Amino acid sequence: MTESVQELSVEEPSVKELVRRHWDGRAATFDEGKSHGLLSEQQRAAWVDRVREWAGPEPVRALDVGCGTGFFSLLLAGLGHRAVGVDFADSMLARAREKAADVHLDIEFRSADVEHLPFPDGSFDLVIERHVIWTLPNPPRALNEWARVLRPGGRLVLVEGDWRRPQGNPDYAPIRDSLPLYGGRPAAEVEALVRAKGFASTQVEPLMTATLWVVMPEWDRYALHAWV
Ligand SMILES: C[S@@+](CC[C@H](N)C(=O)[O-])C[C@H]1O[C@@H](n2cnc3c(N)ncnc32)[C@H](O)[C@@H]1O
Repeated sequence: MTESVQELSVEEPSVKELVRRHWDGRAATFDEGKSHGLLSEQQRAAWVDRVREWAGPEPVRALDVGCGTGFFSLLLAGLGHRAVGVDFADSMLARAREKAADVHLDIEFRSADVEHLPFPDGSFDLVIERHVIWTLPNPPRALNEWARVLRPGGRLVLVEGDWRRPQGNPDYAPIRDSLPLYGGRPAAEVEALVRAKGFASTQVEPLMTATLWVVMPEWDRYALHAWV
């Protein structure tokens, strides 16, 4: 009797908890991926160029949602912007902090759920993410939050793609049906979601160049820009 009561009281990990565990286990080697790290000076220069254009010439306060090992936070801070990175995987955040310390960049990295941000309304000029919206159980909720923390006229940049394939990562097998954008989506589909959230204007920029990804991407890759 006691045993079955104990069994009943053991909770299944939530979808988000399984996502968090997956990324927590990938921090050590994450930056080795062509679509994750900066593997050459040419690749670094290509991303610096994009981020410089997206953030603009004046220093901005930028929020890197699902920052992982700090990809955009580091690039933004390196260009003189004030960057805050949030993620819920502690080992990804630890790696981001190490990388920032190595290059003496002052970046605030915080543990937070990007669908429930711990920041006041209108506190950022720029909210940016790469490869994050596809792994959220509630993308519309995340978009509400990202719009909420942007100041009027502020800019959202989503670097996403459409890399759906029959065999996904095995960690995601039990939860992929709970992630509405699992595997990414074409730009038009994500753009429609963003527009439904009331962003004033949107623009899609294709990112189909070998320099950004080391090799010419096999799958559609783009930056979706939106202004509140
Ligand atoms: C594919 S990685 C991308 C990391 C980084 N943006 C980059 O481009 O290198 C996805 C990241 O999103 C984070 N993430 C996923 N869901 C999250 C959530 N609900 N709240 C916070 N972080 C989340 C994961 O922990 C992981 O670090």
